Amino acid sequence: MHAALSSVPKRISPKYFYDAQGSALFDQICALPEYYPTRTEMSILQNHAHDMAQCMGVHADIIEFGAGSLQKIRWLLKAAALPARYVPIDISGEHLQTASSQLQTEFKDLLIQPQISDYTADWQLPPALQGAGKRVIFFPGSTLGNFSPSQAHHFFQQCAQHLPGGALLLGVDLIKAPELLHAAYNDAQDVTAAFNLNLLARANRELGTNFDMTQFAHSAFYNAPLQRIEMHLQSLCAQHVQLDGQRFDFAQGETLHTEYSHKFTLTGVQQAASMAGLQAGPVWTDPLQWFGLLWLNIPSTLETAR
Ligand code: AVI
Repeated sequence: MHAALSSVPKRISPKYFYDAQGSALFDQICALPEYYPTRTEMSILQNHAHDMAQCMGVHADIIEFGAGSLQKIRWLLKAAALPARYVPIDISGEHLQTASSQLQTEFKDLLIQPQISDYTADWQLPPALQGAGKRVIFFPGSTLGNFSPSQAHHFFQQCAQHLPGGALLLGVDLIKAPELLHAAYNDAQDVTAAFNLNLLARANRELGTNFDMTQFAHSAFYNAPLQRIEMHLQSLCAQHVQLDGQRFDFAQGETLHTEYSHKFTLTGVQQAASMAGLQAGPVWTDPLQWFGLLWLNIPSTLETAR
């Protein structure tokens, strides 16, 4: 938080949204009528899980990043041919443990190894499993969109480095009418606002800051030239906040930037992935082309990776 408040302009990583309350609010967002990405991606998974499972092959070793409440993986696990293992990775520990225990009751014979870690900082993947098939990273939800372009490139490079011969199944939100995008991040029930503001409440709870929750407002808008939603917390007045005895000033209207949510084209993603050596495979989408799931093969050698 110190670095966030000292930077110009003020900005913080969206990974800090996800404490227990933030994760619960995010689950609520996913069920909102305006927030189309979750239900659209779910419908694609439901309709095409068998084709995806074919790409995975027998005894796949599936690793999911940002696994959250483990809803989407169910379609793949049902369709997959005897998956060898499922490793859900998430930064929100309590949430992950509860969801993993629930999943284990539904898939009794599946080896589930939840891992609480920050995949945006370090990639500590469990060693390959003896006798398992292809290692597949499942990265749904368009969480890639929360990365900057250089972070996304780094992510693809990490895939290439850590999973030679494996694959990435990636979900991305596609560019669409700005009104639809705007509504998805400015819902009528203000759940997204509560999710955004929880970041300040969390800092007050955990770091002893004194953010006045009534003097910050949720702000989210589509930046069309840069093809991204930008989310901010805007100061409603000139004020200051204390952190560890240090004072941080906010001018009226000044914002703390909390999240980018980039929107993509399918070919744009394939091109970005190819810069790290990943090879385009099948693509699945919905009838309105609102969301896409892309299969990206990782070559066995790193020769092509730059
Ligand atoms: C997790 N991530 C892909 C969500 C998104 O749409 O960028 C987070 C979110 N922020 C506001 N609403 C949802």
